[in-house]
Amino acid sequence: MLTHEENEQLTKVGPGTPAGELLRRYWHPISVSLEITDEHPTKFVRILGEDLVIFRDKSGRLGLLADHCSHRGASLVYGRVEERGISCAYHGWLYDCEGNILETPPERNDAIMRSVKHTAYPVKEYLNLVWAYMGPTPVPPMTRFDTLFRPDGHRTIRVHPVLDCNWFQAMENSMDPAHLQILHQEFVGGDRKPVSTTRGYTDDVESFEFSLTDYGLMKKRTYKNGVVDEHPVCFPSILRQGPSTQFRTPIDDEHTLHFHVNFRLTEDGSSPDDAFDPPVEYMDAYKEPADRLYPNTRFTLHAVIPQDHMAWETQGPVANRPGEHLSYSDRGVVLLRRVMKEQIERVAQGLDPLGVQRDPDHEMINTNIDEDFWQRGGRGSVNEGKAMSKKAGTKS
Ligand code: FES
Ligand SMILES: [Fe+2]
Repeated sequence: MLTHEENEQLTKVGPGTPAGELLRRYWHPISVSLEITDEHPTKFVRILGEDLVIFRDKSGRLGLLADHCSHRGASLVYGRVEERGISCAYHGWLYDCEGNILETPPERNDAIMRSVKHTAYPVKEYLNLVWAYMGPTPVPPMTRFDTLFRPDGHRTIRVHPVLDCNWFQAMENSMDPAHLQILHQEFVGGDRKPVSTTRGYTDDVESFEFSLTDYGLMKKRTYKNGVVDEHPVCFPSILRQGPSTQFRTPIDDEHTLHFHVNFRLTEDGSSPDDAFDPPVEYMDAYKEPADRLYPNTRFTLHAVIPQDHMAWETQGPVANRPGEHLSYSDRGVVLLRRVMKEQIERVAQGLDPLGVQRDPDHEMINTNIDEDFWQRGGRGSVNEGKAMSKKAGTKS
Protein backbone atom coordinates (compact mmCIF):
# COMPACT_ATOMS: atom_id res chain seq x y z
CA MET A 1 0.00 0.00 0.00
CA LEU A 2 1.26 3.47 -0.86
CA THR A 3 0.31 6.90 0.42
CA HIS A 4 -1.49 9.26 -1.90
CA GLU A 5 1.75 11.24 -2.29
CA GLU A 6 3.78 8.12 -3.14
CA ASN A 7 1.16 7.15 -5.71
CA GLU A 8 1.41 10.57 -7.34
CA GLN A 9 5.20 10.35 -7.37
CA LEU A 10 5.04 7.15 -9.44
CA THR A 11 2.30 8.16 -11.81
CA LYS A 12 2.35 11.85 -12.69
CA VAL A 13 4.19 12.43 -15.96
CA GLY A 14 4.04 16.19 -16.64
CA PRO A 15 7.06 18.51 -16.66
CA GLY A 16 8.59 18.96 -13.22
CA THR A 17 6.97 15.87 -11.69
CA PRO A 18 9.32 13.19 -10.27
CA ALA A 19 8.32 10.38 -12.67
CA GLY A 20 7.91 12.88 -15.51
CA GLU A 21 11.50 14.04 -15.08
CA LEU A 22 12.72 10.44 -14.94
CA LEU A 23 10.80 9.46 -18.09
CA ARG A 24 12.29 12.47 -19.90
CA ARG A 25 15.73 10.83 -19.67
CA TYR A 26 14.79 8.16 -22.24
CA TRP A 27 13.83 7.95 -25.91
CA HIS A 28 10.20 6.96 -26.47
CA PRO A 29 8.24 5.97 -29.60
CA ILE A 30 5.49 8.56 -30.07
CA SER A 31 3.92 7.80 -33.46
CA VAL A 32 4.13 5.76 -36.62
CA SER A 33 6.31 7.88 -38.89
CA LEU A 34 4.49 6.68 -42.02
CA GLU A 35 1.52 8.77 -40.82
CA ILE A 36 3.51 11.96 -41.46
CA THR A 37 3.13 12.30 -45.22
CA ASP A 38 3.31 14.99 -47.91
CA GLU A 39 -0.49 15.07 -47.85
CA HIS A 40 -0.68 15.16 -44.02
CA PRO A 41 2.66 16.63 -42.92
CA THR A 42 1.58 17.45 -39.35
CA LYS A 43 0.19 15.36 -36.51
CA PHE A 44 -0.92 16.39 -33.03
CA VAL A 45 0.43 14.26 -30.19
CA ARG A 46 0.24 14.65 -26.44
CA ILE A 47 3.29 13.06 -24.81
CA LEU A 48 4.19 13.21 -21.12
CA GLY A 49 1.37 15.68 -20.66
CA GLU A 50 2.68 18.13 -23.28
CA ASP A 51 0.73 19.13 -26.39
CA LEU A 52 3.04 18.79 -29.37
CA VAL A 53 3.04 18.69 -33.15
CA ILE A 54 5.11 16.33 -35.25
CA PHE A 55 5.80 17.70 -38.72
CA ARG A 56 7.95 16.99 -41.74
CA ASP A 57 9.21 20.08 -43.54
CA LYS A 58 9.68 20.23 -47.28
CA SER A 59 13.36 19.45 -46.89
CA GLY A 60 12.30 16.11 -45.44
CA ARG A 61 13.34 16.88 -41.86
CA LEU A 62 11.15 15.74 -38.98
CA GLY A 63 10.38 18.14 -36.13
CA LEU A 64 8.60 17.99 -32.79
CA LEU A 65 7.43 21.35 -31.44
CA ALA A 66 5.08 22.61 -28.75
CA ASP A 67 1.73 22.79 -30.47
CA HIS A 68 0.74 26.28 -29.31
CA CYS A 69 2.43 28.99 -31.34
CA SER A 70 4.73 31.24 -29.32
CA HIS A 71 2.98 34.31 -30.77
CA ARG A 72 -0.59 33.99 -29.52
CA GLY A 73 -1.11 30.28 -29.17
CA ALA A 74 -2.82 28.97 -32.30
CA SER A 75 -2.21 25.28 -33.04
CA LEU A 76 0.73 24.51 -35.29
CA VAL A 77 -1.08 21.37 -36.49
CA TYR A 78 -2.64 23.74 -39.02
CA GLY A 79 0.71 25.25 -39.92
CA ARG A 80 1.98 25.18 -43.48
CA VAL A 81 5.21 23.30 -43.96
CA GLU A 82 7.93 24.94 -46.01
CA GLU A 83 11.54 24.18 -46.92
CA ARG A 84 12.77 25.87 -43.74
CA GLY A 85 10.19 24.57 -41.27
CA ILE A 86 6.57 25.19 -40.34
CA SER A 87 4.68 28.46 -40.61
CA CYS A 88 1.82 29.12 -38.20
CA ALA A 89 -1.44 29.38 -40.11
CA TYR A 90 -2.61 32.41 -38.10
CA HIS A 91 0.04 35.12 -38.71
CA GLY A 92 2.82 33.15 -40.33
CA TRP A 93 5.52 32.90 -37.66
CA LEU A 94 8.00 30.45 -39.09
CA TYR A 95 9.77 27.82 -36.95
CA ASP A 96 12.56 25.43 -37.82
CA CYS A 97 12.92 21.92 -36.35
CA GLU A 98 15.04 23.26 -33.48
CA GLY A 99 12.39 25.77 -32.40
CA ASN A 100 14.19 28.83 -33.79
CA ILE A 101 11.83 31.56 -34.94
CA LEU A 102 12.93 32.50 -38.45
CA GLU A 103 10.22 35.00 -39.38
CA THR A 104 7.61 37.06 -37.52
CA PRO A 105 5.25 38.52 -40.13
CA PRO A 106 4.00 41.02 -40.88
CA GLU A 107 7.00 42.84 -39.36
CA ARG A 108 10.44 41.44 -38.65
CA ASN A 109 10.87 41.48 -34.87
CA ASP A 110 14.55 40.79 -34.26
CA ALA A 111 14.19 41.09 -30.48
CA ILE A 112 11.66 38.25 -30.42
CA MET A 113 13.61 36.15 -32.91
CA ARG A 114 16.72 36.48 -30.78
CA SER A 115 15.18 35.98 -27.34
CA VAL A 116 12.32 33.54 -27.81
CA LYS A 117 13.03 29.86 -28.35
CA HIS A 118 9.99 27.77 -29.10
CA THR A 119 9.89 24.40 -27.27
CA ALA A 120 11.38 21.77 -29.58
CA TYR A 121 12.54 18.21 -28.92
CA PRO A 122 14.93 15.95 -30.79
CA VAL A 123 13.24 13.25 -32.86
CA LYS A 124 14.46 10.29 -34.85
CA GLU A 125 12.74 8.21 -37.47
CA TYR A 126 13.57 4.56 -36.95
CA LEU A 127 11.68 1.30 -37.66
CA ASN A 128 8.88 3.40 -39.18
CA LEU A 129 8.30 5.02 -35.80
CA VAL A 130 8.97 8.55 -34.58
CA TRP A 131 11.11 8.52 -31.42
CA ALA A 132 11.39 11.53 -29.13
CA TYR A 133 13.71 12.60 -26.36
CA MET A 134 12.18 15.29 -24.14
CA GLY A 135 14.86 15.67 -21.46
CA PRO A 136 17.85 17.89 -20.84
CA THR A 137 21.03 17.93 -22.90
CA PRO A 138 23.31 16.18 -23.57
CA VAL A 139 20.92 13.99 -25.54
CA PRO A 140 21.76 10.30 -24.98
CA PRO A 141 21.83 7.84 -27.88
CA MET A 142 18.96 5.40 -28.29
CA THR A 143 19.70 2.26 -26.33
CA ARG A 144 20.79 -0.58 -28.64
CA PHE A 145 18.40 -3.33 -27.59
CA ASP A 146 18.83 -6.43 -29.74
CA THR A 147 15.19 -6.54 -30.82
CA LEU A 148 15.49 -3.03 -32.21
CA PHE A 149 18.96 -3.17 -33.73
CA ARG A 150 19.81 -6.72 -34.82
CA PRO A 151 19.72 -7.09 -38.60
CA ASP A 152 19.02 -10.84 -38.71
CA GLY A 153 15.27 -10.92 -38.28
CA HIS A 154 11.85 -9.76 -39.44
CA ARG A 155 10.04 -7.01 -37.61
CA THR A 156 6.42 -5.95 -37.39
CA ILE A 157 5.14 -2.85 -35.65
CA ARG A 158 1.85 -3.36 -33.85
CA VAL A 159 -0.12 -0.32 -32.72
CA HIS A 160 -2.59 -1.09 -29.95
CA PRO A 161 -5.57 1.09 -29.10
CA VAL A 162 -4.79 3.95 -26.73
CA LEU A 163 -4.81 2.70 -23.19
CA ASP A 164 -7.16 4.81 -21.12
CA CYS A 165 -5.14 4.65 -17.91
CA ASN A 166 -1.84 5.60 -16.36
CA TRP A 167 1.34 4.06 -17.82
CA PHE A 168 2.55 2.59 -14.54
CA GLN A 169 -0.34 0.11 -14.35
CA ALA A 170 1.00 -1.54 -17.48
CA MET A 171 4.53 -1.58 -16.05
CA GLU A 172 3.45 -3.09 -12.75
CA ASN A 173 1.73 -5.81 -14.74
CA SER A 174 5.09 -6.52 -16.39
CA MET A 175 6.51 -7.42 -12.97
CA ASP A 176 3.46 -9.51 -12.04
CA PRO A 177 4.04 -12.97 -13.55
CA ALA A 178 1.36 -14.64 -11.42
CA HIS A 179 -1.43 -13.07 -13.48
CA LEU A 180 -0.53 -15.02 -16.64
CA GLN A 181 -1.95 -18.33 -15.46
CA ILE A 182 -5.14 -16.71 -14.11
CA LEU A 183 -6.08 -13.74 -16.32
CA HIS A 184 -4.94 -15.43 -19.53
CA GLN A 185 -6.10 -18.97 -18.67
CA GLU A 186 -8.09 -19.27 -21.92
CA PHE A 187 -4.83 -18.94 -23.87
CA VAL A 188 -2.11 -20.69 -21.87
CA GLY A 189 -3.40 -24.22 -21.29
CA GLY A 190 -3.25 -25.74 -24.75
CA ASP A 191 -5.79 -28.57 -24.95
CA ARG A 192 -6.13 -28.91 -21.18
CA LYS A 193 -8.91 -27.51 -19.03
CA PRO A 194 -8.02 -25.60 -15.84
CA VAL A 195 -8.96 -27.29 -12.54
CA SER A 196 -10.91 -24.18 -11.63
CA THR A 197 -11.26 -20.66 -12.92
CA THR A 198 -9.94 -19.41 -9.57
CA ARG A 199 -6.57 -21.14 -9.90
CA GLY A 200 -6.36 -21.30 -13.71
CA TYR A 201 -2.99 -22.91 -14.51
CA THR A 202 -1.21 -21.44 -11.51
CA ASP A 203 -0.35 -24.93 -10.23
CA ASP A 204 1.86 -25.42 -13.30
CA VAL A 205 4.29 -22.96 -11.71
CA GLU A 206 6.94 -23.92 -9.18
CA SER A 207 8.29 -20.47 -8.36
CA PHE A 208 8.60 -16.81 -9.29
CA GLU A 209 11.83 -14.88 -8.83
CA PHE A 210 12.82 -11.29 -9.45
CA SER A 211 16.18 -9.63 -9.94
CA LEU A 212 17.89 -6.51 -11.23
CA THR A 213 19.87 -6.21 -14.46
CA ASP A 214 22.14 -3.51 -15.94
CA TYR A 215 19.20 -2.07 -17.84
CA GLY A 216 16.16 -2.92 -15.73
CA LEU A 217 14.51 -5.82 -13.99
CA MET A 218 13.96 -9.51 -14.68
CA LYS A 219 11.08 -11.72 -13.76
CA LYS A 220 11.55 -15.45 -13.84
CA ARG A 221 8.90 -18.11 -13.83
CA THR A 222 10.00 -21.71 -13.21
CA TYR A 223 7.46 -24.35 -14.16
CA LYS A 224 7.10 -27.68 -12.41
CA ASN A 225 8.12 -29.37 -15.67
CA GLY A 226 11.47 -27.56 -15.49
CA VAL A 227 10.77 -24.92 -18.15
CA VAL A 228 12.11 -21.50 -17.21
CA ASP A 229 10.55 -18.35 -18.60
CA GLU A 230 12.35 -15.04 -18.14
CA HIS A 231 11.06 -11.67 -19.29
CA PRO A 232 13.06 -8.49 -18.83
CA VAL A 233 11.64 -5.07 -18.12
CA CYS A 234 13.84 -2.53 -19.86
CA PHE A 235 13.47 0.31 -17.40
CA PRO A 236 11.33 2.28 -17.18
CA SER A 237 8.64 1.71 -19.81
CA ILE A 238 9.44 -1.37 -21.92
CA LEU A 239 8.50 -5.03 -21.50
CA ARG A 240 10.40 -7.67 -23.48
CA GLN A 241 8.30 -10.79 -23.82
CA GLY A 242 8.41 -13.54 -26.45
CA PRO A 243 8.92 -11.89 -29.83
CA SER A 244 7.59 -8.55 -28.62
CA THR A 245 9.20 -5.44 -27.26
CA GLN A 246 6.30 -3.57 -25.73
CA PHE A 247 6.53 0.19 -25.34
CA ARG A 248 4.23 2.09 -23.03
CA THR A 249 4.60 5.79 -23.78
CA PRO A 250 2.65 8.07 -21.45
CA ILE A 251 0.31 10.48 -23.22
CA ASP A 252 -0.66 12.10 -19.93
CA ASP A 253 -1.48 10.91 -16.42
CA GLU A 254 -4.51 8.92 -17.58
CA HIS A 255 -3.68 7.79 -21.13
CA THR A 256 -0.86 5.73 -22.63
CA LEU A 257 0.34 4.80 -26.11
CA HIS A 258 1.01 1.09 -26.54
CA PHE A 259 3.30 -0.12 -29.34
CA HIS A 260 4.87 -3.51 -29.97
CA VAL A 261 7.97 -4.05 -32.04
CA ASN A 262 7.79 -7.76 -32.81
CA PHE A 263 11.04 -9.39 -33.90
CA ARG A 264 11.62 -12.89 -35.16
CA LEU A 265 15.09 -14.11 -36.08
CA THR A 266 15.47 -15.63 -39.53
CA GLU A 267 16.00 -19.38 -39.34
CA ASP A 268 19.18 -19.26 -41.44
CA GLY A 269 20.69 -16.21 -39.77
CA SER A 270 20.32 -14.02 -42.87
CA SER A 271 19.45 -10.34 -42.71
CA PRO A 272 16.28 -9.55 -44.66
CA ASP A 273 15.98 -6.35 -46.71
CA ASP A 274 13.06 -5.15 -44.64
CA ALA A 275 14.67 -5.75 -41.23
CA PHE A 276 14.55 -2.01 -40.51
CA ASP A 277 11.49 -1.20 -42.62
CA PRO A 278 8.78 -3.15 -40.82
CA PRO A 279 5.12 -3.32 -41.80
CA VAL A 280 2.70 -1.66 -39.40
CA GLU A 281 -0.49 -3.27 -38.04
CA TYR A 282 -3.17 -1.25 -36.29
CA MET A 283 -5.15 -3.36 -33.87
CA ASP A 284 -8.93 -3.07 -33.65
CA ALA A 285 -10.51 -1.72 -30.48
CA TYR A 286 -10.45 -3.97 -27.43
CA LYS A 287 -13.69 -2.58 -26.02
CA GLU A 288 -17.16 -1.65 -27.20
CA PRO A 289 -17.93 1.25 -27.32
CA ALA A 290 -14.28 2.02 -28.06
CA ASP A 291 -14.37 5.62 -26.87
CA ARG A 292 -15.86 5.02 -23.42
CA LEU A 293 -14.27 4.25 -20.10
CA TYR A 294 -15.00 1.52 -17.61
CA PRO A 295 -17.76 0.91 -16.50
CA ASN A 296 -19.51 2.32 -19.58
CA THR A 297 -17.83 -0.04 -22.02
CA ARG A 298 -17.23 -3.77 -22.32
CA PHE A 299 -13.82 -5.30 -23.08
CA THR A 300 -13.65 -8.03 -25.73
CA LEU A 301 -11.18 -10.32 -23.86
CA HIS A 302 -10.66 -12.22 -27.13
CA ALA A 303 -6.86 -12.37 -26.76
CA VAL A 304 -4.08 -11.82 -24.26
CA ILE A 305 -3.54 -8.10 -24.82
CA PRO A 306 -7.26 -7.19 -24.64
CA GLN A 307 -7.39 -9.07 -21.33
CA ASP A 308 -4.42 -7.03 -20.12
CA HIS A 309 -6.06 -3.78 -21.24
CA MET A 310 -9.18 -4.79 -19.29
CA ALA A 311 -7.17 -5.42 -16.12
CA TRP A 312 -5.15 -2.20 -16.44
CA GLU A 313 -8.04 0.12 -17.32
CA THR A 314 -10.47 -1.23 -14.74
CA GLN A 315 -7.94 -0.46 -12.00
CA GLY A 316 -9.00 3.12 -12.75
CA PRO A 317 -7.49 6.04 -14.71
CA VAL A 318 -4.82 6.02 -11.96
CA ALA A 319 -4.87 2.92 -9.75
CA ASN A 320 -5.89 3.53 -6.15
CA ARG A 321 -2.70 2.23 -4.54
CA PRO A 322 -3.57 3.60 -1.09
CA GLY A 323 -6.53 1.20 -1.19
CA GLU A 324 -4.70 -1.95 -2.30
CA HIS A 325 -3.71 -5.03 -0.28
CA LEU A 326 -0.43 -6.46 -1.53
CA SER A 327 0.46 -10.12 -1.09
CA TYR A 328 3.67 -12.16 -1.36
CA SER A 329 3.21 -12.67 -5.10
CA ASP A 330 3.26 -8.87 -5.57
CA ARG A 331 6.93 -8.61 -4.60
CA GLY A 332 7.96 -7.92 -8.22
CA VAL A 333 5.61 -4.93 -8.17
CA VAL A 334 7.15 -3.78 -4.89
CA LEU A 335 10.63 -4.13 -6.39
CA LEU A 336 9.65 -2.05 -9.44
CA ARG A 337 8.27 0.70 -7.18
CA ARG A 338 11.48 0.67 -5.15
CA VAL A 339 13.61 0.96 -8.30
CA MET A 340 11.43 3.82 -9.54
CA LYS A 341 11.93 5.66 -6.25
CA GLU A 342 15.70 5.13 -6.34
CA GLN A 343 15.99 6.25 -9.95
CA ILE A 344 13.79 9.32 -9.36
CA GLU A 345 16.26 10.25 -6.60
CA ARG A 346 19.21 9.77 -8.97
CA VAL A 347 17.63 12.15 -11.46
CA ALA A 348 16.98 14.68 -8.69
CA GLN A 349 20.73 14.50 -7.89
CA GLY A 350 21.62 15.19 -11.53
CA LEU A 351 22.73 11.61 -12.26
CA ASP A 352 21.78 9.38 -15.17
CA PRO A 353 19.09 6.85 -14.21
CA LEU A 354 19.21 3.10 -14.86
CA GLY A 355 19.79 2.08 -18.45
CA VAL A 356 20.67 5.49 -19.94
CA GLN A 357 23.61 5.05 -22.30
CA ARG A 358 26.21 7.66 -23.16
CA ASP A 359 28.33 5.78 -25.69
CA PRO A 360 26.50 5.64 -29.04
CA ASP A 361 28.55 2.54 -29.93
CA HIS A 362 27.77 0.72 -26.71
CA GLU A 363 27.50 -3.03 -26.92
CA MET A 364 24.15 -4.31 -28.08
CA ILE A 365 21.96 -5.37 -25.15
CA ASN A 366 20.85 -8.99 -25.16
CA THR A 367 17.26 -9.24 -23.95
CA ASN A 368 16.99 -13.04 -24.18
CA ILE A 369 15.97 -13.00 -27.83
CA ASP A 370 17.78 -16.24 -28.74
CA GLU A 371 16.25 -18.13 -25.89
CA ASP A 372 12.83 -16.74 -26.68
CA PHE A 373 13.11 -17.58 -30.36
CA TRP A 374 14.07 -21.18 -29.84
CA GLN A 375 11.66 -21.74 -27.00
CA ARG A 376 8.63 -20.08 -28.51
CA GLY A 377 8.20 -22.42 -31.44
CA GLY A 378 7.55 -25.47 -29.30
CA ARG A 379 6.02 -24.12 -26.17
CA GLY A 380 2.49 -23.08 -26.90
CA SER A 381 1.33 -23.46 -23.29
CA VAL A 382 3.04 -20.28 -22.17
CA ASN A 383 3.12 -18.48 -25.48
CA GLU A 384 1.46 -15.12 -24.92
CA GLY A 385 2.68 -13.72 -28.20
CA LYS A 386 1.41 -16.62 -30.26
CA ALA A 387 -2.01 -16.50 -28.65
CA MET A 388 -2.26 -12.84 -29.41
CA SER A 389 -1.28 -13.00 -33.05
CA LYS A 390 -3.59 -15.94 -33.66
CA LYS A 391 -6.64 -14.46 -32.02
CA ALA A 392 -6.39 -10.71 -32.37
CA GLY A 393 -7.92 -8.89 -35.32
CA THR A 394 -5.83 -6.44 -37.29
CA LYS A 395 -6.50 -3.71 -39.76
CA SER A 396 -4.00 -2.21 -42.10
S1 FES B 1 -0.65 32.76 -33.33
FE1 FES B 1 0.86 31.89 -34.57
S2 FES B 1 1.63 33.50 -35.76
FE2 FES B 1 0.14 34.40 -34.51
FE1 LIG C 1 -0.79 -10.25 -19.26
